[in-house]
This record gives sequence, C-alpha cells and structure tokens, in this order.
Amino acid sequence: MTYQPQADFGTPAIKSTEQVTLTIDGRDITVPAGSSVMRAAAEMGTSIPKLCATDSLESFGSCRLCLVEIDGRRGTPASCTTPVEPGMVVHTQTPQLQKLRKGVMELYISDHPLDCLTCAANGDCELQDQAGAVGLRDVRYPVAASHLGQAKDHSNPYFDFDPSKCIVCSRCVRACDEVQGTLALTVESRGFGSKISAGLASDNFMGSECVSCGACVQACPTATLVEKKVVEIGTPDRSVVTTCAYCGVGCTFRAEMRGEQLVRMVPWKDGKANRGHSCVKGRFAWGYAQHAERILSPMIRDQIDQPWREVSWDKALSFAADRLNAIKAQHGPSALGGITSSRCTNEETFLVQKLVRAGFGSNNVDTCARVCHSPTGYGLKTTFGTSAGTQDFDSVEDSDVILVIGANPTDAHPVFASRMKKRLRGKDGRPGAKLIVVDPRRTDLVKSPHIEADHHLALRPGTNVAVLTALAHVIVTEGLADEAFIRERCDWDEYTHWAEFVSLPTNSPETLAAVTQVPAEIVRAAARTYATGGTGRGDVSQRPKINAAIYYGLGVTEHSQGSSTVMAIANLAMATGNIGRRGVGVNPLRGQNNVQGACDMGSFPHELSGYRHISDGSARALFEADWGVSLDPEPGLRIPNMLDAAVDGSFRAIYIQGEDILQSDPNTHHVAAGLAAMDCVIVHDLFLNETANYAHVFLPGSTFLEKDGTFTNAERRIQLVRKVMTPLNGMEDWEVTQALANALGLGWSYNHPSEIMDEISRLTPSFAGVSFARLDQEGSLQWPVNDANPDGSPIMHVDGFVRGKGKFVVTDYVPTDEKTGPRFPLLLTTGRILSQYNVGAQTRRTDNSRWHEEDVLEIHPVDAEDRGLKTGDWVKLASRAGETTLRTLVTDRVAPGVVYTTFHHPDTQANVVTTDYSDWATNCPEYKVTAVQISASNGPSDWQRDYEALSERSRRVVHTEAAE
Ligand code: SF4
Ligand code: SF4
Ligand code: SF4
Ligand code: FES
Repeated sequence: MTYQPQADFGTPAIKSTEQVTLTIDGRDITVPAGSSVMRAAAEMGTSIPKLCATDSLESFGSCRLCLVEIDGRRGTPASCTTPVEPGMVVHTQTPQLQKLRKGVMELYISDHPLDCLTCAANGDCELQDQAGAVGLRDVRYPVAASHLGQAKDHSNPYFDFDPSKCIVCSRCVRACDEVQGTLALTVESRGFGSKISAGLASDNFMGSECVSCGACVQACPTATLVEKKVVEIGTPDRSVVTTCAYCGVGCTFRAEMRGEQLVRMVPWKDGKANRGHSCVKGRFAWGYAQHAERILSPMIRDQIDQPWREVSWDKALSFAADRLNAIKAQHGPSALGGITSSRCTNEETFLVQKLVRAGFGSNNVDTCARVCHSPTGYGLKTTFGTSAGTQDFDSVEDSDVILVIGANPTDAHPVFASRMKKRLRGKDGRPGAKLIVVDPRRTDLVKSPHIEADHHLALRPGTNVAVLTALAHVIVTEGLADEAFIRERCDWDEYTHWAEFVSLPTNSPETLAAVTQVPAEIVRAAARTYATGGTGRGDVSQRPKINAAIYYGLGVTEHSQGSSTVMAIANLAMATGNIGRRGVGVNPLRGQNNVQGACDMGSFPHELSGYRHISDGSARALFEADWGVSLDPEPGLRIPNMLDAAVDGSFRAIYIQGEDILQSDPNTHHVAAGLAAMDCVIVHDLFLNETANYAHVFLPGSTFLEKDGTFTNAERRIQLVRKVMTPLNGMEDWEVTQALANALGLGWSYNHPSEIMDEISRLTPSFAGVSFARLDQEGSLQWPVNDANPDGSPIMHVDGFVRGKGKFVVTDYVPTDEKTGPRFPLLLTTGRILSQYNVGAQTRRTDNSRWHEEDVLEIHPVDAEDRGLKTGDWVKLASRAGETTLRTLVTDRVAPGVVYTTFHHPDTQANVVTTDYSDWATNCPEYKVTAVQISASNGPSDWQRDYEALSERSRRVVHTEAAE
C-alpha cells in the first residue's frame, strides 16, 4: 500500500464497559469512560494539534498545544489530560485557541533549526505537520539557542540523535520508561535549558543502558531521533505489514519501503503480539537480507572435499533428485530423511514434511524443535491434551503473581519481557505483580530498574524437577491447593496419588535443599506467594482469588528431565487452579519465530499435522486420500537417530531446510561424523552455513522479506508474512521444495502459499477455519480455529481440559547422568543474549555484533580466583565430549560452581562441549547441564584451527558453470 503513517489517537485506548456521550464541535460521540477528550475527538476524525501526546504513551500534558474550550469551564484545558464527562460540550477550533496554539508553536520553532528542506524527516515530521496545522507562518521571536548547535550523537549503529532538533517533549524518555522499561533516558536541567540525555554513565547512546529497541525513535515527533537508513535512503513511499522472523514473540511490523529498498521496520500498533513495540533484532537487524555473503546460485559437488560448482536450478535439482533416487533404490526409503525449520513459514515446513513422507517414502522428518521445545509438546499434551501454551500475551496484564522458570525474557523474548515488566511495575495505584524467578543465573528480571524479584530460587542446574516438587510439597502440605478446582476439572484419583507423593518428607524443601542448593525458607515463601499471592494461608475459599501465571523457556526443556519438568509445572498450575482464564496458565516462551508452527505442521517423525500420531489409521487415511500415496504407519527417525544411523551406514541422504545442525545440535563432533558419512546432504539456506561444509547440494534460500506465508508464535497466533521484495535468488523457499519434489516426479502444482494453507486447513482440524483471506482481514488467528472455536482461542482449557480431565503426573526427580567430579568440577549452562539470535547466521551479519562480537564464558569471582583468571583471559573449556577456547567474563551473575556461555558464534561452537544426554521422552538435548573444567589457555584450540581450515576449504566456489 502507499505510505501513510499509522493513525495516532493521541492517548491510549481505554478498556471500560461504561460509555460516556459528549459533544465535540457540535457532534455527539460516545466513548469508553476514562478516555481523554483528545482521544474522543480523534475517534470521530477530528485531530486536535498535539506534540507531547501519542497513543502509545500515557498523556503528559507538557506542550500545551492541544488546548480546547469546554462549556462551563474556565480556561483552556489540555485535551490530552482531560477525561471525557457525560454531557460535556467541547470546542476544538476557536479564534482564541488558534491564537494560543500559534503562540506555543512559535516558541518551539524559535529554538529549532529552520532546515526542513534538507532534514531527513522532511514530509514525515510531526513538528512540521503541527506547525502547518496551527497556521504558523512567521516567528516573531529572536532565535533562541538553547538547543541549536548541540553536538550530534552517531554512536548507535542504527539511529542518530541530533539534540539541536529536540523540542523536549519527553516522548522518548516516556517510551523508554513505559513501553520498553529500560529507563535509559533522562531529562537534564529545567526550563528552556532542559535536554535529553542517554543516562548518567555515558554521554552517548552506545555507552548507555540503551538496548536499541527503537521505541524512542518511533515516539520522537521530530528528526531528533531518526533511523540512519532514513537519512541514507530517504523517507518511505510505501509499506507492507509483515511478521518478524527472529523469535517466538511474533512481532508484526510495517516494512516501510522506498521503491525496492527497505528503509525501516516500524512495529505495527495493531499487532496483537507486540502492540507496537519491538526489539533491536526485528526493528533493526535485517541487513543480512542484502549481505554480500548470501548465496544466490545453486551449487553442487560430487564430494565434500571438492570446491562448489555454481550451476543452474535445473542442474542442481536433477543432481539432487538423481542421488536421492539412487540411494532410495539401493538402500530403501528409510535411508532418506529431512529436517524442517522453525525459521521457515508454516507452508514451507508443511511441504518439507510432505516431501519426506510422500516423496522419500519415510517418516524420517524432524525439526529443530527437537532440540528446544519438544518436551513442551510432550508434557502439555500429556497433562492438558494440547501441545501448546495456554494464554495470549495480553493475559499477563491480569496476573497477580508471575513465576518465571528457566527463561530469560529480557534477552530472548524482549518485547514480551517489556509487557511483563510493565505489569510488574504496577500502574495507577494498582500494585505490580509479584515475581518469582527460578534460574541459576541472576538474570535481569531478578533485579533491574524498578523491578525486583520477590523470590529468586538460584537452583543448581539440572534440579528443576526437585525445586518444583518442593514447591508442590508446600502447596499440598500447607493446604494451599484449590481442591474445588481439582475436583471439578482434574482426575481426582491421580491428584491424590500425586499429592501423596509430593507430601513425602523426602520431597520437602528442607530435604531437597541438599540437591537444589535453594534454602528451604525461600522455596516455602515462593510456594505461598504462587498459591496465594501473599494473601495468607488458610481455607482457599476464604481467600481472594489470585491469578498466578508460569512462564518458562529452554532452561526447563533442555534437560534430561525436560518433559518431567513441563509436567511438574502443569501439576503446579492445576493444583492451584491457575488454568482456564486470563492472568494464569502455563506459557512456554518459544525460541524461534515459528517453532510452534513447525511442530503444528507435522514435522515430528511420529506425528502428522495437528499432533495426530502417524499410527492413527483414520488420520493417515485422510492424508493418503489427499496426497494419493500410502504412508508408512511406523514413526521415523529423530535427528539424533538419523545421525547415529548415518554413522552406522543405514541412513544416507538428508534435505535440511533453514537449519544449521552442525552449530545448533549437541556434540558437534558426532554431528559432523554423521553428516560426513552421508552420500547426499542437501542444504537449503541463505548462507553457506557450518552444516554446508558437509553438503553436496546447496539450494539458495529466501529471507522472510522475500516470501508470502504464515508464522505461528508462542501464543498459537497465526500471522501473515508478506512479500516485501523480490527474492534475490529468484525463488521463494516453498517454490524450491516444490521444484525438488517435481524433480522427483511428484507433480506438485501450488501457485501460491495460500493454496498450501488451504491444504493444511483441509487436513488439520485445529486449522479448519484458517485461510489467507481471513488472516488478511483479521490480522491474526489463534488456533484452534474450527467450528467449536470459530474466532480462534486466545485462552485454552476455559471450560475443561482438551483431554477431558486434567492429568496429574508423578514426576520423580532423577539426577542427570552428567555428573561433576574432580576432572570436571563445574556445571556449564548455556543461553542467549539480546543482540544475537541462535547460531547467529543472521545477526552476526548485521551491526548487532557491535554489542556481542564473541561468545564469552561467565565465571563466578571465586571460581575465577581459584584458577587465577580475570576478565578477558583466554580459557580452555573442556567436557567429556570435547573442548573449546573462549574468553572469560568474571561476574557474580552466575553462582559459584556454575559457568555460562552463549552459542552464537561458530568459531567458539559451545556445542562442542555439550553431551549426548537428552530428555528421556523426546531426546531434547541436555544443553543446560554439562560438567566442565576451565583452565588457562593461550588461544584457540587445535580443532578450532582445523575447523577454520575446513570451513575455508569448503567455501571454495568455482563460478564458471552457472550456465550448465
Ligand atoms: S528527542 Fe524527540 S522525543 Fe525526545 S524529547 Fe526530543 S523531540 Fe521529544
Ligand atoms: S532505543 Fe529503546 S532502550 Fe534505547 S533509549 Fe530508546 S527506548 Fe530506551
Ligand atoms: S526478535 Fe522477537 S521480540 Fe524482537 S522484534 Fe522479533 S519477534 Fe519481536
Ligand atoms: S499534546 Fe496535550 S499537552 Fe501536549
């Protein structure tokens, strides 16, 4: 669509069932009680001039431009801070108001450079618009120099700060406080001399607490804070709404374009997942899409020690098809498999699993969810009946208690973290929610500006189940369980069995403290807070009902007891009646953008789309009839089993779309051995990733900016991804998979991803009511969308659990086999950092690396001193699986005995040291617990040097055969 800024109603929408009717400029308007006069006027299409007000922020009332006259009231009140009243009669345009507004604007302009024609925001500037709106033509005052001439700050890689253009409206400061919750900005001094400062510790943005979310830039009504790309390219002339391709929050953005060039990504205010907010990745880190290292031509090679040959699409596809056919003929369908990607769309993922099942003839299809949230699928399906979280993000606004376990949302799910922090801070006299953090590290949520956890359970890695059992022990033995809820909604016999188990003295916080290292009194206090909100013990029917919500991440799932932990969380929520309404629930914070969708689409070897077991004859028959093939009723191989089978010689070919398993999967040496043993590795990706070192065919991928499709976020919200620009490689990813299928003779003929979605909804009951047309019209839909839930399902299990009765499962704590000892005395746990994303393939190719150039090892001062280490020293990190070398960061964010690192950089490859241990139910690797030793080192280890040589060899490309 052509470029139009999103409408700004001046002040936020008010949720109220009470309605108020008033008259504005002679017309009646009815709005929710509590709305501002400015908002009411905007709703009827009358825009009152304004500068300090914007509808993403609470009204402030500082600029005095929005004055109105109200019958029966003296003076000219500010419309942004004046609430509507029944019968109120408002005038927005009178000669007196025009004069006053012009005078106010004149003062602003007298301290503003008059360089509109050369300003980056010319034509897209609220100050310019409002000066026009109030009819200002001359400035009678001499030029004031309060701000003119102040030095610009170019330190942030994505936006500039030019204080000479600042009108000190404080919108940036309030955006950072209210929306982002970082509180990086302040107003220094007072009156005409007041100015905006990026914190006290630094004189520029880059050195401040700023996390580059962009909220201040978006809020700024002038060109004081402006994207560097706007300066470089110019203001946009069209926009397309699409969905972020980084994390599972699923923020929607307006991709604002000038011709075929992307100028900026502006968070979409109507986006139901992000409500107009963003983080540094989605907002700014999209430059990888045009990075010089993108591979745009297909490539093949006979053996992996040869250079790549660039070839035509036809040649590459027939080369791949010939190899796949030959392997299938010689070794049978079970020798072939595929991996779908949580970075790709639902439609692309659906096609890859269809290719494997219907084309290769095996069920050897798996997804990267194997290594992150497969225990969520298993645990929540077992206890509740659905493999997904229970709430929408808005639900957090109604929580009284928030328990965060094994998740670091400020880094991994930043936009949701901002929503959560808003609720934790409280507002307008409503106290903030209480916060319980269960995490071995002191994450930002434990303590950051205006946020402090009520309880931090700094457990020993690997003891989640023990902590959750101890919490349950307190809830049951102190009579804090919600018996009425349990009797009505859950299987009572299973509950009593579970309650007996958790009540055993061996499961008390006092006994388990020896295992978890969490003092018993902290566990007891946290349990009481979760169950009662701190309102006291005693008869549950006499206590006020409180809403307690649990949010968890990979610190729960990536353990040998990942599935048990998910079920222990579900037990806790059911025992306290915290399921089935707003403010409560069990909420997995999904890692990648479409990890929920990849699971929904039948990417697992044992499940068809919609989580129907492959052995289910009636489900299989549906697919067989639609696809015209017979399907194998036996589950196929999971990723680790495919690699084992490859080493054994029985698995010989794999198609990997959008995943870099060499870097992301555990025990790198084993992954490399598996890949190296195969005869045909087809990598379909944007860049020559680490896995491609072992590939025979490379098929260039397309970015989210170059394709149509859908992603499903952590709230089960299905949203459209819209093509913003033409794919640089010439094909969208679904087209590439279709071309490979057709090279194998499958005869597919989809013309657009909407046709794939039509097939998905035809074959998947929970998607029955989903179509591109509906998504386009309604913005998003949360599955299940079917006859029973025609408008989707923001909250699950409202009137009953999907499985019928909620199921309590006894979750015995079983220590991991990965033990510390004299050789490996420390426990390594891994995680993410805000600026980088997963294996870093995208973010490392952007300026986000300015914040995080390398993976470092966090180590407690006591452990560092024992080893004579200081921050910045090179250390060897060794485990039973392998070793790597990286630099240290000495910090008390980690407890003694625990070390921590990220896995964003291939030259570190933290997964060289992680082990083969995995979740008992799903094989999800135990990334979060590895026994290690640290010792001083002089620099990169032998394999890192060898690896660099291998990577370099493997990246050799012969460009002469493009026309083959
Ligand atoms: S930088 Fe922009 S938003 Fe902030 S006070 Fe100045 S003009 Fe207002
Ligand atoms: S970019 Fe975000 S964190 Fe940084 S100052 Fe602006 S609002 Fe605050
Ligand atoms: S990375 Fe996640 S939080 Fe950040 S903009 Fe994208 S979807 Fe939103
Ligand atoms: S917009 Fe109302 S006082 Fe500034």
